[in-house]
Amino acid sequence: MNNKESISHVTPGKYQESKFEKIHSVVFESASVASKVVAKEIADSIKEKKNKPFVLGLATGSSPIGVYKELVRIHKKEGLSFKNVITFNLDEYYQISRDDNKSYYSFMHRHLFSHIDIPKENINIPDGEISEDKIQDYCVKYEDKIKRYGGIDFQLLGIGRTAHIGFNEPGSNINSETRLIALDEITREDASSEFNGLDFVPKKAITMGISTILKSKRIVLLAWGYKKSNIIAETIEGEVSTTAPATFLQNHSNTTFVLDKESSADLIKFKTPWLVKDINWNDNKKKKAIIWLSKLVKKPVLKLTQRDYKENGLANLVDSEFNVYDLNIWMFNELQKTITGWPGGKPKHDDTNRPERALPSRKRIIIFSPHPDDDVISMGGTYARLIDQGHDVHVAYQTSGNIAVSNEDAEKFIEVMYSFISSPDVKKVLKSVKNELGKKKIGDADSENIMKLKGLIRKSECIAAANYLKLPEKNLHFLNLPFYETGYIKKNDPTYKDIKIVSSLIESIKPHQIYAAGDLADPHGTHRICLDIIFDSLKELKNKKFMKDCWLWLYRGAWQEWEIEEIDMAIPMSPAQVIQKRNSILCHQTQKDKVMFQGNDEREFWLRAEERNNNTANLYNKLGLAEYQAIEAFKRFYY
Ligand code: F6R
Repeated sequence: MNNKESISHVTPGKYQESKFEKIHSVVFESASVASKVVAKEIADSIKEKKNKPFVLGLATGSSPIGVYKELVRIHKKEGLSFKNVITFNLDEYYQISRDDNKSYYSFMHRHLFSHIDIPKENINIPDGEISEDKIQDYCVKYEDKIKRYGGIDFQLLGIGRTAHIGFNEPGSNINSETRLIALDEITREDASSEFNGLDFVPKKAITMGISTILKSKRIVLLAWGYKKSNIIAETIEGEVSTTAPATFLQNHSNTTFVLDKESSADLIKFKTPWLVKDINWNDNKKKKAIIWLSKLVKKPVLKLTQRDYKENGLANLVDSEFNVYDLNIWMFNELQKTITGWPGGKPKHDDTNRPERALPSRKRIIIFSPHPDDDVISMGGTYARLIDQGHDVHVAYQTSGNIAVSNEDAEKFIEVMYSFISSPDVKKVLKSVKNELGKKKIGDADSENIMKLKGLIRKSECIAAANYLKLPEKNLHFLNLPFYETGYIKKNDPTYKDIKIVSSLIESIKPHQIYAAGDLADPHGTHRICLDIIFDSLKELKNKKFMKDCWLWLYRGAWQEWEIEEIDMAIPMSPAQVIQKRNSILCHQTQKDKVMFQGNDEREFWLRAEERNNNTANLYNKLGLAEYQAIEAFKRFYY
């Protein structure tokens, strides 16, 4: 990990941390530290130019926001002037009006231009309002203007999950210049929360071309989070190809990728470090390497030979061990120990080699569910077992999940209530909510009444699932955390209020086990926020006596799954238990069929969950363990 002050590029060829990497990259502990370092390089380069023009290429999106914040700070606190800076933005949606708060014109003013001393005439952003017949001419002129200024001195980039830079989507050619382009569906999906739904995301954009970008003297690309890890590895280590336009940066001699831990996680040097350098082996690294080897040579662990290890870059592991046979047995036992049908611990049994403690035999348990259905989607099988095995199970729904109920579903519920209830007062309220729904325009927030109605619909679905699994309704806790209640897809930042609500519940129940979603790839970031709120609550409670007996288990499932080597507890499911889990997911009727927010996976949640649980079971089986129908997996988190 790097916390260097500078990320200046080292001549390609001289810099080579791993033989697989074709682009210089620097990895930081966090995006905020990295953003400060990048801002400093920009500020220093502006200063170096003295009073001569400095041509700065700029990006929008979530990635550069930290850099802009730091540039504003340097301007305000350290007097950095932007009087001689000429900016060219990479792209703009088409068609969009400048004043639309989703336009890149608005974005740039909101985050940077309105807070610094850059002259208006120095700002260049592609015009999203230009008429279609003038676009070609306009794009040539944009390109010429960059040339007239002597080209871009420093180009800041983000990267899309399609490997676009600017909006150069797959298929973009190395010779491409500024032009109108159709946006890829994945890109539109990623922008959908900004636009309050996929249907409202523009289909086109004006973007600088690959060749425009490659002519820049210095390029820095920013990428944060797991969402980008695949594409970053493909771009740095893959072959140059139009299907991943960012790979063209391999041809540029002064490019640096600035990454955080998450976005760099799929690089070979982190994913399979034994292929790159000598390793100081510990149990975790051994597990990771052996499971990788077993998958690679398609053999169960107990059948791996010395030759398999040696021929696949693991000679150093074999040499450090007594013999391969013992190493394989050790690995097999480690995997075997994770499997248990007793997620709350097996009473009256030796628990030395079990994932959970036997005592107390009846545990108090809180299952935290970020949305009102993650509990059953991600751990419906385990949830049912914990109830069947007599534990005091509580489920806490952190958010109301109201935004994911469609207006049509909300109207359906109003109709039923309207026909069912005779009270004129209630009918009046229902009629006014129906009117509010009817009047809602694209991009309007849900009103308080609509939010309340939609939240109640989801609440009723949670109650149906709990009834089905035989959990008393009094054990359900609807926390309706305030950070979520905006009426928009975009949420507020969490505050102490959110933490207090969660910590009060934990304190009142004093649980022996907490289950929480460690699933950090959900498209709107709600899972990450909900987990951070739990971490902050646990920090706040850490000196309480009950906390020393409180274990935290993280589940995944709605959006991603644990790697096998990360799993500490694997709960097998029989075919009948799989059906039971499916039925509990299906209680969430508004999240069926046409799911409003489902990420890039078009399948319904029950199908995704079943496939993931099946895959985990298959993987265990391929590694040489017993063959189960499905497995739910958990990782213990030591806080
Ligand atoms: C924006 C742009 C895009 C973004 C990319 C990543 O001007 O050109 O290439 O940089 O889509 O977006 P974020 O940073 O939001 O992940």
